[in-house]
Amino acid sequence: MKKIIVLVSVILLSSQSIFSQKETTVVTIKNSESAPIINKNIYGHFAEHLGRCIYGGFFVGDTSKIPNTNGVRNDIIKALKELKIPNLRWPGGCFADTYHWKDGIGPKENRPTIVNQWWGGVTEDNSFGTHDFLNLCELLGTEPYLAGNMGSGTVQEMADWVQYVNFNGKSPMSDLRVKNGRKEPWKVKIWGVGNEAWGCGGNMTADYYAGEYRKYATFMSDWSNSGGLMRVASGASSDDYNWTETLMKNIPNQMLGGVALHHYSVIDWAKKGDGVDFDEDLYFKTMKQALKMEELVTKHSAIMDKYDPNKKIALVVDEWGGWYEVEKGSNPGFLYQQNTMRDAVLAGATLNVFNNHAERVRMANLAQCVNVLQAVILTDKTKMLLTPTYYIMQMYSVHQDAKLLPLTINSPSYTFNGESLPALSASASKDKNGLVHISLVNVDSKKPNTIEIDLNELGIKSVSGVIVTSSKLQDHNTFDNPTKIQPAVFKGFQIKKGKLEVVIPPFSVVTLEGK
Ligand code: AHR
Repeated sequence: MKKIIVLVSVILLSSQSIFSQKETTVVTIKNSESAPIINKNIYGHFAEHLGRCIYGGFFVGDTSKIPNTNGVRNDIIKALKELKIPNLRWPGGCFADTYHWKDGIGPKENRPTIVNQWWGGVTEDNSFGTHDFLNLCELLGTEPYLAGNMGSGTVQEMADWVQYVNFNGKSPMSDLRVKNGRKEPWKVKIWGVGNEAWGCGGNMTADYYAGEYRKYATFMSDWSNSGGLMRVASGASSDDYNWTETLMKNIPNQMLGGVALHHYSVIDWAKKGDGVDFDEDLYFKTMKQALKMEELVTKHSAIMDKYDPNKKIALVVDEWGGWYEVEKGSNPGFLYQQNTMRDAVLAGATLNVFNNHAERVRMANLAQCVNVLQAVILTDKTKMLLTPTYYIMQMYSVHQDAKLLPLTINSPSYTFNGESLPALSASASKDKNGLVHISLVNVDSKKPNTIEIDLNELGIKSVSGVIVTSSKLQDHNTFDNPTKIQPAVFKGFQIKKGKLEVVIPPFSVVTLEGK
C-alpha cells in the first residue's frame, strides 16, 4: 500500500463538499476468529496461447531488441512481480485441449508447428513450451497452474507430462527433462484436467466428463509433491448448476482438489458491445453480469456443501472478466480489447465477492494476463502499459493470505431504466502485521455514496487510502497516455467519535488501510 502511495500522483479530494450529502450506508465489519484466510490464489492470472498473449505479448524471443529474459519481456516480468501474482494458468483455455506438450520441448528448431484452431487459425512454432513457461513462473515467484489436454490428448500423455515436470528419480520422462537441460523437477502442484469440457474441450456431457476425469486423475500420479497434486475438474459455465452437481456426485472427493467455474461479464454473445465506446445501458448490463458472480458462487458453493461439508474441495473460478467486441481493425480471433474504468469497477466488485467467499473460493484466474480480454497489461511492439484492472489487482493484493473480516452491508440501489443493482460492495481483511484493509466499490455511474464503519470494533486509530477513479467511465490508458488512470491517494473520509465516514465517488474503487 505504502509503495503505491509513493508511486502515485496525489489527488486531494476536498472533504467539505463531499460530506455534505447524506444517506449513509452502514458497513459492519467483525473480527472473527473462525473466519477463513483469503487464499492468495484468488488473485491468479491466465496466459493462453491466444492472439498476442504469449507470442508477441509475454514472449518476444531471445533475439528481440525488446529487453527480455529467455525471450520473455523484462517489463512484463517486472510488472507481474510488482503485482505479487500468485499463480499463472497455461496454456489454455480452449487451446489446452489441442496442445501436445511434447511438441514444445527440446531444441526449438526441431519443434513441429501447431495450428491454433480456436484462435485465428494461426500457425505457431511451439517456441514457447513447458520449460519456457515453468522457468518464467520461477522467475516471477509464482505457482504454475498447468491445464492438461483431455479433449484431444490421452491419459498416457497427461501422465507423462506429470512425470516430466515432477519426477525426481530416474524415469523415461525425467531423463528426457534432464536431456533438455533441466535437472531439478519443477514440482508443479496445480493441474487442470481439461477445460470447458462441455464446449471446446470435447462437447461432453457432465456424466461422461465425470467418468473421464476419474480415469485421468487416477493416472496423474503424484511423483514428488509432498502435499499431493491439486487436480482441478473442468467446471460449469455460469449457472449450469447441474454440471457442478454431477461432478460432485460422481467423482470421489479425494480425487478432487478443485472444481472450476467460468463466468464472463458479457452482455450478449451475439452483440457484445464495444470495449471503450459504450453508453450507460451497456455499462449497467455489464455490471449486472459482473455482480451475478455473487449468486453463482453462492449457489455452486451450496451444491458443493452437500457433498463436501468440510469444504476440502476448492471452487476455482479459473476464468472471469469482461468480454467485449474486439478492438476495431484487430484480428477477431485474437480477443484484443481496451480496458476502461468499467473494467476497474468490474474487477473490484468481483474480487469483493471472492474475498467474502474465501471459505470455498480458494483460487481464481482473471482472463487474461496480456493483450487478451480483461488484460492487466497491453503491449504494442516496444511499448507496454498497465490497465486500470492492473491497478485494482495491485490495490487488492493486500488481501492475499490475510484473514477475512466478515462484513454486512445493506447497499443502496443503482437504478437505471427501471432496473436496480446494489451500488456498493465491500470486503475486508487483517494481514499478518495486524493491518486492516477495507476495499470498497461504488458501481453507481452518477451518485457518490457515503459509508460509515465503526472503527472501535476493529481497534483502528488511523486510516489512509488509495483510489482508482477518473472523470469518465470510458477513460482508459493508451500507449500515448499510459498513466491517465493510476491509483491516487484518497482523502475522502473523516473519523468522528470512532466512526469512519467515507464518501466514495461514482464508478470508483477504494482500498483503505487502518492501524
Ligand atoms: O479466455 C478465452 C476463452 O474463453 C478460453 O479459451 C475458454 O476456456 C473460454 O471459453
